[in-house]
This record gives sequence, C-alpha cells and structure tokens, in this order.
Amino acid sequence: MHTGQPAIFLDIPSRSRYLTFTIKNPIELKNVLTSLSHMVDGTSVVMGIGAKVVTALHKKVPGLHLFPELSKAPVPMSTTPGDLWFWLRGDDLGKLLHRGRAIEVIANPAFELINVVDGFKYGDGMDLTGYEDGTENPIDELAQQAALMSGESAKMDGSSFVAVQQWLHDLNYFEELPAQQQDHIIGRAKTTNEEIDDAPKSAHVKRVEQDDFDPQAYVVRRSSPWIENQQSGLMFVSFGHSFDAFELQLNRMVGLDDGVTDALFTFSKPLTGNYYWCPPMGEEGLDLAQLMS
Ligand code: HEM
Repeated sequence: MHTGQPAIFLDIPSRSRYLTFTIKNPIELKNVLTSLSHMVDGTSVVMGIGAKVVTALHKKVPGLHLFPELSKAPVPMSTTPGDLWFWLRGDDLGKLLHRGRAIEVIANPAFELINVVDGFKYGDGMDLTGYEDGTENPIDELAQQAALMSGESAKMDGSSFVAVQQWLHDLNYFEELPAQQQDHIIGRAKTTNEEIDDAPKSAHVKRVEQDDFDPQAYVVRRSSPWIENQQSGLMFVSFGHSFDAFELQLNRMVGLDDGVTDALFTFSKPLTGNYYWCPPMGEEGLDLAQLMS
C-alpha cells in the first residue's frame, strides 16, 4: 500500500527553500533520478517531476502535462521553465542551504538549477497581506482524497500532482487601500477571518470556493510567503489527485468562466507556472517504478 509524500499533509514549516531545475542532459536522467529518489523522505524534502522528464524517458504518467497556456484569458497565464522541483522544509535556513547544495551535486549530471526561492511561515500561516491562508483546506481523510491518486494502478497510487506559482505582491498598493476594499479583494475580513457573504463576485474566495464547482474542486494548499531583496509575495503550492480541481479554480480566476477576473490580480501577479508529479513513497525513499520499470 503506497502513501503520499508526508509533507503534503503537514503544517507549513517555519522555513522553506524551493529549487527548480531544467533538464540539461537527458542521457543521465535515469541514474540521477534513482539517486535522488533515495534521499527524498517526503517530509524534509518533497520532490516533483515535470512532464518533459517523463517524455525524455519515453514513459507516461497519466494526468501529468505542462502548466496550461491561458494566453486568450482576460488575464493571460503561461507555463515557465521547470522540469524538476524540490521543496526543502525545516526551521534552519542554513540546513536547508546545505541540503539544497547536496541535491544540486547529485542532480548536476542531468539537471541545471535555474531558480531558488526562500519561503517562510508568517505568523500562524498568513499571506503577507495579513490574511490567514489555508483556512478552507480539507483535513484528514478528505485531504487524502483531495491530494492523492487512488485506484489508478499499483505504481501510481499515492501520487500527487502539484501546481506551483510564485506570485509577486505589490504591498505598497495593497496597504494604501481602505480596510473594506482589502477585505473585498480577498472575500474575508482580515480582523476575524470570517467569510464576507456579500463580497463582490471578483473576491478571491468567491472565485475559487471549492464547494461551488461541480464536481466540488478540493485541493490541499501549502503555500508560503517569500522575500527576496525588495520583492515579496506568495509561493502558491497546491496538491491534488489530478490537476482538474486546480484548473477549474484557475479558469475562474482568470475570467474564462464568466468574464469576471479575480481581484487578487489588482495587487499580485504570477511570475511562474509549473506542474509536477509527486511520486508516492516506497520502502526506501520515492517509488519511481512508473518511470523505471
Ligand atoms: C496571490 C496569490 C494568492 C493569495 C494571496 C491567496 C490567498 C488566499 C486567502 C487569503 C484565502 C482565504 C483563506 C483560505 O481558505 O485559505 C484563499 C483561499 C483559497 N485560495 Fe487562494 N490565494 C492565492 C492564489 C490562489 C490560486 C492561484 C488558487 C488556485 C488556482 C487559489 C485557490 C484558493 C482556494 C481553493 C481557496 C479556498 C476557497 C474556499 O473553498 O473557500 N488561491 N486564498
């Protein structure tokens, strides 16, 4: 019986470090991925594999594809480079740095490191705007059902599909807005975290309310704020048993459903858009049977 990478179901750590790699030498992919799979415990290191890696290995991962090109949407979005992703988790940034360096050495024959972002937990789990993030995440059994594939095949069960988007906030703009306007952008009251029933249709939680979709669109979100120099925002990370629920939410945010775009876009924009397959755990690290056998 396979389990998912455990961190999918754990609280946000105080420190996160996100590494993104692209393929540089396909010949070495198999050996490198095998070595990496032994060092990924799914708790202190979460690993996701992009669609181009699977194609280069001449294998299939049902449900995995590139981040959608929503070039015709009222707010366009697109895929950005990223074939292998690591989420390093802990409470000591120094340890995360060294763990990341060790991963880079092992990955080096096949992959090039193109991006590193440091994330952190703000307060009890807030976005940098001061709003609690993750309130409506499913928990326990419902979280497992939302985030893990089951009933597909012995090699795939326990897999998860993660959507990753680095969002850049304009906090100067947001902080100038009156409190009520801020609440109407999010759709919740900052002071109480209560949902605002009569918030505009563009309010973020009105756009993405998981119960509002048919079928219901549940995901497990594990996002963290990030800062780099003068810039900051949210590293949005959402796990699903497929990308379907995320795509329903995203389509509504960018206005493809009813022409209404998410008010989040008034102060934040995605810099990246990537999809990865998070393989299940095996007896020793990740189980890559879907790619190797
Ligand atoms: C700038 C980026 C984003 C920020 C700051 C943000 C912030 C928030 C906040 C504050 C909440 C309310 C509390 C909660 O339930 O977590 C929320 C809810 C939610 N967000 Fe986001 N979010 C962002 C991007 C996204 C994206 C890209 C998606 C998916 C495409 C998404 C999906 C959701 C979902 C599904 C909920 C729960 C809705 C419900 O069922 O009530 N968010 N977000």
